Amino acid sequence: MIVIKTDQEIDAMRAAGHLAFEMLEALETYIVPGISTLDINDFIHAMTVRRGARPAPLGYKGFPKSVCTSVNQVVCHGIPNKRHLLKDGDMVNVDVTPIVAGYHGDSSRTFLVGKGVSPTARKLVDCARECLRLGIAELFDGCRIGSIGHAIQDYAEGLGFSVVREFVGHGIGKTFHEDPEIPHYGQRDRGLRLTKGMVFTIEPMINEGDWRCRILPDKWTAVTMDNKLSAQFEHTLAIRGDGRIEVLTDPNQGILR
Ligand code: MF3
Ligand code: CO
Ligand code: CO
Repeated sequence: MIVIKTDQEIDAMRAAGHLAFEMLEALETYIVPGISTLDINDFIHAMTVRRGARPAPLGYKGFPKSVCTSVNQVVCHGIPNKRHLLKDGDMVNVDVTPIVAGYHGDSSRTFLVGKGVSPTARKLVDCARECLRLGIAELFDGCRIGSIGHAIQDYAEGLGFSVVREFVGHGIGKTFHEDPEIPHYGQRDRGLRLTKGMVFTIEPMINEGDWRCRILPDKWTAVTMDNKLSAQFEHTLAIRGDGRIEVLTDPNQGILR
């Protein structure tokens, strides 16, 4: 069941979205070689509480921390750990989801750690960022879910990379994960139509090698089957009552077209 939101509700979701943006902006200078993934968690947790928000990941289906930190071959859902120190040349995705006034704002970026990141890793991160941009560019009132996935898959595979299948974008609102599912692969002009009042994420995970993942014994950490790199970016998006698209997790984009 898809929960349709009024413009008023979408306006209310903007507060959570913009806080997610501010958090990721703050991380751009916070993330340096030598900090731990738990430092990132604690930094975001403190910012969340200070702003009167709640961290959705904490306790979600038993997830133990307030953000996901996914380093190098980790695809998503990495658990912050004080013994995991970031080193020059690493890449780390940080996925934040504050709850403000009952609504979720879900966004992530992959950050480069220090100056020593390999050309391949940079190319992969640029590809994942561009995949999110291309997915958003497909959006209009009445667009079909398959067109989003197709645009992403076509670009990523064209560069010799692959698209993760096991994890998908999702509807979002008062609940973290709502219908519909939004795959990052697919066929143009196929699938469900996205229409006015829908709020959802696009969050492509792009792998350097094979798209397949496996889950570590901690039951959360998803890593690439071939241990090659994976990168991800995520925004929360809305189709407003007038049919315009709003990027709820980026005030610099805001309401498009
Ligand atoms: N933020 C993730 C997403 O984009 C979900 C994380 S679930 C958690 O959907 F439990 F790991 F936090
Ligand atoms: Co999400
Ligand atoms: Co997320």
